[in-house]
Amino acid sequence: MQVASSHFVNKYGSPELTLQVPGRVNIIGEHTDYSGGDVLPFAINKYVHFISKKSTLPYSRITAIDLNDQIDLTTDIIMPENHWARYFKSAIRSLENQNYHIGTVDICFKSSIPIGAGVSSSSAITCGFIKLLSIHFNLNLDDNKLIELASIAENNTGVMGGIMDQTAIIKGIKNHALLINCNTTEIKNIKITLPGHQWLLINSGVQHNLVMTDYNNRTQESQQALSLIQSQFPELKSQVEINKVHLDFLRLKNSLLSKRARHFFNEQKRVKKIVNAIFQKDSDKIGQLLFECHDSLQNLYEVSCPEIDFLIDRLKEIDTVKGARIMGGGFGGAVICLIDKDAKDQIMKKISLPYLERFKIDLSSFIAYPSDGLKII
Ligand code: GLA
Repeated sequence: MQVASSHFVNKYGSPELTLQVPGRVNIIGEHTDYSGGDVLPFAINKYVHFISKKSTLPYSRITAIDLNDQIDLTTDIIMPENHWARYFKSAIRSLENQNYHIGTVDICFKSSIPIGAGVSSSSAITCGFIKLLSIHFNLNLDDNKLIELASIAENNTGVMGGIMDQTAIIKGIKNHALLINCNTTEIKNIKITLPGHQWLLINSGVQHNLVMTDYNNRTQESQQALSLIQSQFPELKSQVEINKVHLDFLRLKNSLLSKRARHFFNEQKRVKKIVNAIFQKDSDKIGQLLFECHDSLQNLYEVSCPEIDFLIDRLKEIDTVKGARIMGGGFGGAVICLIDKDAKDQIMKKISLPYLERFKIDLSSFIAYPSDGLKII
């Protein structure tokens, strides 16, 4: 934060606003948000900090301190598809398409959220930037509008995701996970107190830019599964209404879509079970559900990768690990584990060397604490 502040003062003068925007993890409910399912994410204690002020120039100036890079965001700017500033550009587009009038700003930002690790560094940037523009230009966006605009901005970058990341980042509450019904957008705050346990996040080092993966194919397949069932059961409105009769029909019609739909169906059940297990502080049950979820993401939804499957197999053999699974958009990124408190170093010691030998990748990890959402500081 201090570094970002002094950077800003040196480059652009006195700041007017400082925002702290967290990343997120997801306990369970994976690849279900875009189909209207239930999800259980929380905001984490890793942040993007934005320092900003209004500008009188015809373009915004943005400095990414960690990358030692800066850009003048002119209206006609053309940038490579994977340039970091595309998130800023698509956020502006999302606001302008809904006729919000915005001016230009000077920004420095710095992040402690690992990039490409499945903990939503990109959503933190889009949410933070839209919030900052809302404050500077009196757009009066409430949290729900902010979530909507940030999700559209993310879709503009080519990832056809749902609202989970943006909701957790904006509405996160310390010591709680958010049980989000992505069909109705209703939220229940679930207090997480699991004495003697912690959430460990392991970065597989397999970077996943979701646009380059099969992510969008999964969102399409989920829709296709629904359409195929509707061809026989026209009264069916959404994925959340799919029942065993529908699944039996789909199994006979299309084995691939049947696998995708079975993941959704079982995952919905797992979310409910894990919430109950959290209420009962039953860490063994939570762990078992995390492993089951991984199995489903690996074999039915097919969004895992060999590196992460290797990690999960090793983690299953460690008794201080209650459960673990691939987390987020998949195809790389992070593993979330429920572990015994203070067992992190012992666990990392057991898996790091075999992983390095097999894949030539160094693992990194951190303990994630359920934290407050986006804040002005
Ligand atoms: C990404 C998307 C989310 C969600 C997850 C998978 O993080 O941005 O909307 O679909 O993948 O659960």
